[in-house]
Amino acid sequence: MSEVGALAARFAARYGRAATALVRAPGRVNLIGEHTDYNGLPVLPFAIDREVHLAAAPRRDRTVTVASSGDRFPPREYALEETIDPGPSGDWANYHRAAAQGLIEELGAGALRGGDFLIAGDIPPGAGLSSSSALVVGSMLAMLAVNGRDMAAHLLADLAATAERYVGTHSGGMDQAVCLLAQPGHALHIDFFPLRTRPVAIPPGAGFVVCHSLVEAEKSGAARDAYNLRVRECRLACRIFDSVLDPDMPLANLGELQRRAPQRPLDEWVNVLAAALPPFPPVLLRRVRHVLTEAERVAAAEEALAAGDWTRLGALMNASHASCRDDYEISCDALDELVATARSNGALGARLTGAGFGGCTINLVRAADVERFVARMEETFYRSRAGAAAREHCFPVVPSGGASVQLM
Ligand code: GLA
Repeated sequence: MSEVGALAARFAARYGRAATALVRAPGRVNLIGEHTDYNGLPVLPFAIDREVHLAAAPRRDRTVTVASSGDRFPPREYALEETIDPGPSGDWANYHRAAAQGLIEELGAGALRGGDFLIAGDIPPGAGLSSSSALVVGSMLAMLAVNGRDMAAHLLADLAATAERYVGTHSGGMDQAVCLLAQPGHALHIDFFPLRTRPVAIPPGAGFVVCHSLVEAEKSGAARDAYNLRVRECRLACRIFDSVLDPDMPLANLGELQRRAPQRPLDEWVNVLAAALPPFPPVLLRRVRHVLTEAERVAAAEEALAAGDWTRLGALMNASHASCRDDYEISCDALDELVATARSNGALGARLTGAGFGGCTINLVRAADVERFVARMEETFYRSRAGAAAREHCFPVVPSGGASVQLM
């Protein structure tokens, strides 16, 4: 029986009636383009073969029950109201509430009835693989399905990105977009404001391996505050640009620099900022340098990927990690050590993926080397730290398709 099939059987056993909708929503890795999305600049992630699954059925009242099929997360219940109050900070069901609140804001509170939702999945939480966005997207799809509704994927991606701010992270829209719009065997080039996507075929020859730093980066904890600070720093940098460009035309985001002067290389703007208003905090200069050079690396990486030039792609991933570490300061000792170990074990490219501050790295290796690489990582990084559990923390990922809904 498939995993979603098994979840449907557990739903029937728990609720005494059949699920009417089965949903799968994948996690993701980001190949390159870190912290560029909320700056209006592109990213290049792919969906992975690790997913959140939901089985759901409608109720006659306006109550929502949410249960997880493992014992890690306790069952929760809430009512569909105009304003849904969050549970305690960090509570897992807040992501489901976020989904409901997001749909209510779009459709109105009267448009939805309640439902029972049973949730399972194999995306490690707090790993930077977007388990939370997969849960929000999956919950929205399941809630729409039990209400007999549908929504265009691009619209839903935008809505899910806004909805997730309910948990307090001012994140961009990468995770939700790739969760919904990914295609098997492809990475997804995503532009923002407005959201546009373009699949980029991944030619044969490469393997992708995820390695966990064993440092959890919960979206609802300290990592959230550090993330939000980066968002604020970039906004502040926009205000400094305004003072030298045109105070009457404030930049909406750093990406607008590109729209205003399409011919000008993005990294030249770093010098404009440096000359702007000394003295201002040098940290802002480093933040902007990361964002603008990272956007250039995304464009170069897309070309390398399309050409199957793995050496070049690897070099760009390595440069991205250095920029994330030194300029954006979102790495940590464990991530840096993991990246160094991966390179010494033959990775062509290794970098942190996702928000940073812990979580996972994505490693590019030749397809023929995947097994050997994983074995070497187990031996050199995990054995002393995780013992027998090494396999759980270091695994190949397959570029996979976006979320889907099966009506029963
Ligand atoms: C998190 C956010 C994304 C993106 C990445 C960093 O995953 O949810 O929107 O900003 O961090 O690239």
